Amino acid sequence: MFVIDGKSIADKVQDEIVAETLKIAQAGESRPNLAIILIGEREDSKLYVSLKQREAVKVGIDTNLYKFEEDAKEEEILQAVGFLNNDPSIDAILIQLPLPAHLNTDKILAAMDPLKDADGFLENKPDYVLSPVIASILRVLSEIAFAPQGKTACILHNSEIFGQTVKDSLAKFGLQINLVSLQGFEAKSADEQKKLFLSAQAKCLSADLIVSALGLPEFIDDTFVKDGAVIIDIGISKVEGKTKGDADFEALAGKKVWLTPVPGGIGPMTIAMLFKNVLAIYQHRKK
Ligand code: GUN
Repeated sequence: MFVIDGKSIADKVQDEIVAETLKIAQAGESRPNLAIILIGEREDSKLYVSLKQREAVKVGIDTNLYKFEEDAKEEEILQAVGFLNNDPSIDAILIQLPLPAHLNTDKILAAMDPLKDADGFLENKPDYVLSPVIASILRVLSEIAFAPQGKTACILHNSEIFGQTVKDSLAKFGLQINLVSLQGFEAKSADEQKKLFLSAQAKCLSADLIVSALGLPEFIDDTFVKDGAVIIDIGISKVEGKTKGDADFEALAGKKVWLTPVPGGIGPMTIAMLFKNVLAIYQHRKK
């Protein structure tokens, strides 16, 4: 198995951003500025936000945190988003998800100026902004010189929107794509699970590229892959305190495959890709 080191690719992406932010500093311009909206007290969200703030410092991007109480009113958040949309010193906006249940996530996200959408969530976002996960997948493929023309991919997903977004992005490169939904897998009967498992296994076995975003720990074992396959693992689960991906690392270790591990694969790359978006948004705003 060839393990794809997401951390070292992320370091490279960070270096590319720094090269640009240095030029900005040398020109005496103000640094790119990302506004982060954090609502409530979820420990995981607070952790992700502090990680983003810490990483931003390393690449010469400023962040401003707008923190709201768990019981914040929708109107209050919409007002803040409107204010940030109109604040010329703010280049990009990130609204940390998930939001507390009483808030309408779609409505709040849709209130963002699509030209400031750092996550690339909005349909009418500009084409220089890509979802950080998609950008990370494409970057991995480019780093390992994967030649997509005429090859086949299998995307295992549990969200139609996500599966379709990955499919659309990969289809542009000439890949033949099989989308396999395993939505609700864990709630199904043993018989139905077996059927779904066998169907996913068969489709993966013929694939040159497998992208998996299931959150089913160690679902993909050595019976899913052919020699030379590339596995991009976006699933994250916790098993007895340990972080696991959708791919069974141990079972695949003896196979001739490429794998982005969890942890250490796509995860470390996504924050770097988020800042690539912030930089691209900044550069387009200056034009
Ligand atoms: N919560 C978990 N992942 C993400 C992400 O990529 N962006 C935002 N805004 N919130 C998240």
